[in-house]
Amino acid sequence: MKLLHLDSSALGGYSVSRQLTADIVAQLSAQTPDLDVHYRDLAAQPLPHWAPVADASDPAAVLGNQMLEEFQAADIVVIGAPMYNFSISSQLKAWIDRVVVAGKTFQYTANGPQGLAGGKRVIIASSRGGSYHNSPYAAMDFQESYLRSVLGFIGITQVEFVRAEGLAVGDEQKAAAMTSARTAIAGLTTRLERAA
Ligand SMILES: Cc1cc2nc3c(=O)[nH]c(=O)nc-3n(C[C@H](O)[C@H](O)[C@H](O)COP(=O)(O)O)c2cc1C
Repeated sequence: MKLLHLDSSALGGYSVSRQLTADIVAQLSAQTPDLDVHYRDLAAQPLPHWAPVADASDPAAVLGNQMLEEFQAADIVVIGAPMYNFSISSQLKAWIDRVVVAGKTFQYTANGPQGLAGGKRVIIASSRGGSYHNSPYAAMDFQESYLRSVLGFIGITQVEFVRAEGLAVGDEQKAAAMTSARTAIAGLTTRLERAA
């Protein structure tokens, strides 16, 4: 079983989402010792913004294809997704622009768009300074809602969030958010719900 582990926070050692993705991968690896983990740090090695290229040998196109192949090969994808200005980091968006590709992970048909990347499971460590889940600010959450939409668009319905929020409110709230996230992580298994 292959797992792709992605981080996209710019905060390095201070990042909450990085701590949580590491904990998620450790939890899954403990359960499945032969789990084949591939790690990519989208902040330390940022991808270029998508742009047209002259031909397929262009370095950005080659790197983009590598992202797509890594993604397509993975059974489980663990993504660290901090909320930046109500959405995701531009580093993570640059990766999405390389893996949501017509003819590869989705296609348009006479009946509308069809996802081609189904069968994967995506676990997202969602970190945010404020609180949005079941709160009056829920409508401003374009981070989790976007990720769920874009992954659903390419056929991935098994999307789970491990959430740490209210991190900027104060030490007490941050500690409670981390405890809650770690409790959720302790319950994770390497279960895959494949279509029959
Ligand atoms: C550029 C930037 C924009 C942010 N925008 C928001 C925001 O819109 N809403 C929010 O609740 N927190 C916001 N935050 C706070 C982060 O979501 C919070 O610090 C979170 O812990 C970041 O994840 P990380 O610790 O993995 O880097 C922002 C932080 C940064 C650096």
